[in-house]
Amino acid sequence: MDKILVTGGLGFIGSHTVVELQQEGFEVVIIDNLSNSSEDVVDRIESITGIAAVFEKLDLRDKSLVHSFFRKHKDIKGVIHFAASKAVGESVEKPLHYYENNITTLVYLLQELEKLDAANFIFSSSCTVYGQADELPITETAPVKPAESPYGNTKQIGEEIIKDVCKVSNKLKAIVLRYFNPIGAHESAKIGELPIGVPQNLVPYITQTGIGLREQLSVFGGDYPTEDGTCIRDYIHVVDLAKAHVVALQRLLNNSNKETFEVFNLGTGKGSSVLEAIQSFEKVSGVKLNYKIVGRREGDVTAAYAETTKANKELGWKTKFSLDDAMLSAWKWEQNIRNK
Ligand code: WQD
Repeated sequence: MDKILVTGGLGFIGSHTVVELQQEGFEVVIIDNLSNSSEDVVDRIESITGIAAVFEKLDLRDKSLVHSFFRKHKDIKGVIHFAASKAVGESVEKPLHYYENNITTLVYLLQELEKLDAANFIFSSSCTVYGQADELPITETAPVKPAESPYGNTKQIGEEIIKDVCKVSNKLKAIVLRYFNPIGAHESAKIGELPIGVPQNLVPYITQTGIGLREQLSVFGGDYPTEDGTCIRDYIHVVDLAKAHVVALQRLLNNSNKETFEVFNLGTGKGSSVLEAIQSFEKVSGVKLNYKIVGRREGDVTAAYAETTKANKELGWKTKFSLDDAMLSAWKWEQNIRNK
């Protein structure tokens, strides 16, 4: 049973990935600093899989702690690195916090991985690196555009750092996964997304409005050059996304990777508008959503959806869930956490 470290393993995508890893027979060690997650997720994961994950509260910014952790766990075979700050707006306000939290920590991790006999590394990146792509669907070879925010910049720089290290390292193999828009929750409704304060992302805002926690959803922009005037995104069910991490890791562990540094898009390949997302919510929940079209949000691109051929062929992975499936799971999760 290979031992895998999941950093940020109590967060939204991290927790779902831990579940999938355990169900595939991996031994999982989680580190998380609980800055945007809660410790009871450890028990929630166990209540789904029946397997206790080892959890250590650890802040990756503390280099000596990272060092001691790896001395204790010399048998780690792979690392899936989720731990990072991810709020686009906040990153504009606090750039240094983002560079320390997302870049310094990556460097410390890679320094430790270099000391292992072999290191397999999966990195959480984002479709944000493409900006407004010139062609849709977006392929992995589409140019990386200047970042719109320090958050986006940390993903671009992170990818570059890993690529540079892979070039010279005879130990490190890495896969960068560029996520489109992860949404939804585990079918058990025991784990899901837990945004602190007012949600910035569309789906938690929709479900919180649906449940009565928010008065009204603002639809940012109704005058985009799309069919219904609202922005288009590729919403991917978090469980599909989590499964992709497991197959990417297996690819590295089995040495089936073609290069020591590879990049994959993770999306469904299907674009949906904001209004289509709202319709999907109304359909699966039976709840009429109070929403209003307002002005555009700064920094939003018109449309982004993935070309998924590379991930489908090379990873042998395909999404199973539809937008309706994802929306229903998000709605069940929302109802569950509000005890409704
Ligand atoms: C989706 C659509 C909004 C809220 C962001 C990051 C990206 C990635 C995922 C992760 C857009 C519209 C939203 C609302 C709305 N990062 N919207 N009303 O912006 O595509 O991607 O999250 O960690 O890097 O940029 O996702 O969910 O914020 O927005 O109309 O209240 O919903 O304009 O068209 P986005 P989102």
